[in-house]
Amino acid sequence: MHIHRYERWWMTFGIGMLAIFLAVILFAAFADNMNPPSGMMQVDPTKVAQTPPFDKPGLRRTGPHAFDAYYVAQIFMFAPASIDVPAGSTVTFYVTSPDVVHGFNITHTDINMMVVPGWVNTASHTFRERGTYLLVCNEYCGAGHQNMFGKVEVH
Ligand code: CUA
Repeated sequence: MHIHRYERWWMTFGIGMLAIFLAVILFAAFADNMNPPSGMMQVDPTKVAQTPPFDKPGLRRTGPHAFDAYYVAQIFMFAPASIDVPAGSTVTFYVTSPDVVHGFNITHTDINMMVVPGWVNTASHTFRERGTYLLVCNEYCGAGHQNMFGKVEVH
């Protein structure tokens, strides 16, 4: 079978690019140790309401300026709907869902998480400025999605 010279160059180029991309991925995974997160907190989505700490969602003080906030995101509300912390507090959010995928986005912060049933997602933020921060679900989750919001009061 005759393969034209340009065709052969082009095939060599294509296969070469695939080999380079694969090498980059393998280098990132093994040499740079870039891997998907593992060992994250899991929770049975059918038993969220019975599983501590999500059986009593809310704020826990963990230090002079530190809090843990446990949230359940469900159709179509956040529990707790509102939390109140002093300015300068670092809040670590733990969120899970008993039903469908939700979003957890606090405006004017870098908190923007996807809430996947069965998993606990987590992120921290230090609230330096006083005010009311809106918490919104930014993943379409059903007919009441637009009513799914909460707030963080920083006083
Ligand atoms: Cu929950 Cu959109």
